[in-house]
Amino acid sequence: MEHYEVSPLSLPKSSPNNIKKNLQEDVQFDPKKHLDLTMPMYIKTLDGENVPFPLKNAAKHNVAFSAPFKVLSAEGVKAFRQVIAQNEDLAQPFKNRQKKAIRGIAYRSKFFCDFTYSPILLKHLSKCTGKALAPHNFPMNISQINFGEIGSDKGADVWHIDSVPYVLVILLSDSAGMIGGQLQVSKAKFGDPKLALEYIRRDGKLPEDMVNTVNYPAAGYGIFMQGSRIAHAVTPVLQASEPRLTLVNSYQSLKPFEEDATLYKVFQTIDGDAAPFEYARHKAWRASGQLHYLMKEAKYFGKTEKIASVLNKAIDELVYARDLITGKIEEDAPYKDTDNEDNTSDIKLVNSKL
Ligand SMILES: [Fe+2]
Repeated sequence: MEHYEVSPLSLPKSSPNNIKKNLQEDVQFDPKKHLDLTMPMYIKTLDGENVPFPLKNAAKHNVAFSAPFKVLSAEGVKAFRQVIAQNEDLAQPFKNRQKKAIRGIAYRSKFFCDFTYSPILLKHLSKCTGKALAPHNFPMNISQINFGEIGSDKGADVWHIDSVPYVLVILLSDSAGMIGGQLQVSKAKFGDPKLALEYIRRDGKLPEDMVNTVNYPAAGYGIFMQGSRIAHAVTPVLQASEPRLTLVNSYQSLKPFEEDATLYKVFQTIDGDAAPFEYARHKAWRASGQLHYLMKEAKYFGKTEKIASVLNKAIDELVYARDLITGKIEEDAPYKDTDNEDNTSDIKLVNSKL
């Protein structure tokens, strides 16, 4: 049951926040020209081990993050920057996090959709986890473009845990001579996200001896991470030839019974009118996948308890979604929420997985 996979969710028939599709986009994504995929030197597991890429035994090894690896060619970096510049009007201040960020560019740009759904890229990323991955069910996560600041006394990104299972973060700006802008990730002890969140909510950060630092060698390199399980931050950019620019794409497995690492809270806060429908579609995809298993795969004659268990799972997914989007229940933020300092002493996550 837990290994059962279904087809990915396609994009909805309409767009949120009045984002219009760009029917005249002049740059076309070409994997031969724009991708330059290399193998990461190692995969760091949640246990703190370094194992070789591709990760073969998903039952034994659970990815924390990959070593940086080349994703885009020089021509690819140039093309991405060109398309981002054409869509910069979508950028909004990203509360508590970035100076500004673009979200949901996939609703407008075919270039970004074609990149995200490129089979070559998805196959490569799946090899970091040992299981089939698809783009995350929220199109607003395809893609997020983060615009950094130079010399800011704030971190380029605060300590947090992602609200999606996996992310690929690609550096698009020139890192030659850059001081700062490094990715910090928690060491194995904090592979337990609940423990890491206790520190983050109390202190805003993790103790220094529990932090690994990873550098992006150059523009076009990416780091793949199970950001929902491993706390991370980006150090302030103290010096650089240009502001730090990163592309973040989110991914999930195709297993509808897998623990749901998608948190509604963050998207509810930042995504305008997109979050309720995107979350409902996500939960509908999970529940229907579970019911699909019952209809097409299960051999449950005489197994009433198992039948009830699947029915309950599907019902729980939908009830939880309805209660979240109607405000009956609320999730706590997976970072230090400065709007709600009370949560430093009283952690009440309605989502039991954290
Ligand atoms: Fe993150």
